[in-house]
Amino acid sequence: MAKTQGRKSKAETLLDDVSSIVGAKKKRVLECVDFSDPNRPKSCLEVDFPILPINEVAVIEGNADKPIYQVSKYWARRSSSVFRSMLIAGAAKAPDSDKQAGALVWQSFYGNHQSNEDFSRLKIADIFMGGGTTLVEAARLGMTAVGNDLNPMAWFVVKSELSQAKKSDVEALLSRVNQQVFGSIRPYYAHSCPRGHRGVWTEVAKGREMPSDFDPLTLPPEERGGYSYRGPELIYTFWAKHGQCQAQGCGHRTPLVTVPLFARKTLLIESWEDRECQGCGKTFDVERFDARMAPGEDFLVLEGEKPFAVMDKDGRFACPHCGRESEDLRAKVEGNSSSLGKSANKRVDFSLVLSPKWLKGTPAADAQGLPMGGRPGDDADSTVRWYAARSSTLSFLEIRGANVPSEVSNPRTGETFNTAIGTPAMRQTANGPQPKKSSFACQDSTCGREWDVLDSMRSSGRAGAMAPFAHHVHCPECEAAGDPYSGRMFVPARDARGVSSAEREWEKRNVADLKGFWPEDPISDGWKTHKWGIPDHGYTHYWKMFNSRQLLVLSQILRAITTDEQSPWEARRPCWAHFSNMCATRISFVSGMRVRTRWSPTSRETTIHSNPGPSKTMCSESLAVAIGSHASKGCSNHCNGGRGLGRGSPRRRFNGTPRILQSSSSRARA
Ligand SMILES: C[S@@+](CC[C@H](N)C(=O)[O-])C[C@H]1O[C@@H](n2cnc3c(N)ncnc32)[C@H](O)[C@@H]1O
Ligand SMILES: [Zn+2]
Ligand SMILES: [Zn+2]
Ligand SMILES: [Zn+2]
Repeated sequence: MAKTQGRKSKAETLLDDVSSIVGAKKKRVLECVDFSDPNRPKSCLEVDFPILPINEVAVIEGNADKPIYQVSKYWARRSSSVFRSMLIAGAAKAPDSDKQAGALVWQSFYGNHQSNEDFSRLKIADIFMGGGTTLVEAARLGMTAVGNDLNPMAWFVVKSELSQAKKSDVEALLSRVNQQVFGSIRPYYAHSCPRGHRGVWTEVAKGREMPSDFDPLTLPPEERGGYSYRGPELIYTFWAKHGQCQAQGCGHRTPLVTVPLFARKTLLIESWEDRECQGCGKTFDVERFDARMAPGEDFLVLEGEKPFAVMDKDGRFACPHCGRESEDLRAKVEGNSSSLGKSANKRVDFSLVLSPKWLKGTPAADAQGLPMGGRPGDDADSTVRWYAARSSTLSFLEIRGANVPSEVSNPRTGETFNTAIGTPAMRQTANGPQPKKSSFACQDSTCGREWDVLDSMRSSGRAGAMAPFAHHVHCPECEAAGDPYSGRMFVPARDARGVSSAEREWEKRNVADLKGFWPEDPISDGWKTHKWGIPDHGYTHYWKMFNSRQLLVLSQILRAITTDEQSPWEARRPCWAHFSNMCATRISFVSGMRVRTRWSPTSRETTIHSNPGPSKTMCSESLAVAIGSHASKGCSNHCNGGRGLGRGSPRRRFNGTPRILQSSSSRARA
């Protein structure tokens, strides 16, 4: 909430008004019943309950935005408003008129009960405390809270929620974590911009800009912090899982891509529409900035799209019909000029399609017969080889226009792209051929055998190999230049240096200084693990669910929190809780299909599925603020499940079908 000097902002005034209407923070001292008296009068709860207004509050609340409950997404959480009102109703003596009982509870709901001595004498025990909602609400009402649960995670979560940590201690801890980790992991998230903007590394001690070939990843991790960075960075990396053909002598790896059109975006483009050309008399739109989703990649403008011209940085543009050049620097700079008038926004659709060459996959070994890695547990050499092989054929076709046909051709190369069907096995139906669920057809040119994904994983006994195919990058220079996509862009993951360096570094450090800070245990036996077949997909251990870069980053953060001797335990605890929350999204099980980014001007999905992504949350933000450099951009908004009616089950769970698109976020530097 921005404060204008001396005067309250609109939001603050509104908050004050609402607070005063509902009696927020108003001192309340309700008379309690004496539970030791067998003839006690009834409590409000035994008479009436304001279920309608509380239900409305619970629906709005959904638990999602209350900071204290963001400490963890414990799955068995309840809506705090329901428990707060039940505690008030259970404790308060019912008024003489039964009709007033519900109203009394509702009128006291937002009040401050901390000075009520009757309340402070009440002990609330929740012997199945779960995520601690009841206990936290009891504490907020000034009651004494006691809890128990058979799940140690519940203990840990409730301890964190009720921790007496001092804010300054937590902030000091986070800043030391930042100091220790940020510098060493930052180079993993630097990336160049395809529009030619390069990041600049500066040697902090000397204030010296480093030459363009400087690569901080060649330095030992502890020295990297001596260099600061300004420039384009990764927001997400999208990974694709591969299915390995189990036919004797084949072993070819095929990316599990059902639909090659993997990202879609509507951009608002500032433009002057239907300008008439002075040369040929035909009309076209003049666009103030170059709107692209994947600048530098091959570009197809669909037939039927309005003709357009893009201004260069000096305001020059050429008629798309006859090529006649015009110039209007003022319009470029101010968005308004005497000849063009004032610009207006128009909506244009863009899509990205994976190239057919890349969808062909990669053989089991390279030309020298050396094996490909990429699966959890593969050695760094073979995985680096795999990344190199996979990135060598990677490209996108960007399409401008709505209603993308199922087949398009690349205007530069003439190559045909299927936008609708990727690599699944097909079956005949009355409506023609349809993709089979969870299947793939081996893309080796002489094989073509069809597999069920799970069968192939089971018979290999290994998880599928993962390869990055796209980076979502943010370039500050593009943003400053007015880019309609606010400086964001998709870049094919052709530069495999970052992920390759991470493999090598993790291979060395997981058995050395980072040992003990990553989970070596097998996945515990449970309904949602073994009965849902997670080990059948090759995920037998927790660490296999993370890629090497995630493990490298997360284990360093965990070590920094855990070994910070200067911090009291009370301060470390909420940081661990936050850390565990971060792991829920810095994992290979985050479905890219559901990723939405808050940066988007229209808050639309950036990806193909219409499945609404999880709603707004704050859970990973504050640690990310300490760790990441994108603090000003806010949390990437994908880190917690949207919650209906106060239930806290994370939406992003493993549902037995491994998803094709995987993302890992740089927000937590993982
Ligand atoms: C729905 S949650 C409780 C929610 C909690 N009362 C609140 O207010 O947020 C149920 C909890 O009961 C715990 N639980 C189940 N059986 C238990 C048992 N036999 N002993 C202790 N805790 C148990 C589970 O681990 C789970 O955390
Ligand atoms: Zn095959
Ligand atoms: Zn013309
Ligand atoms: Zn740029």
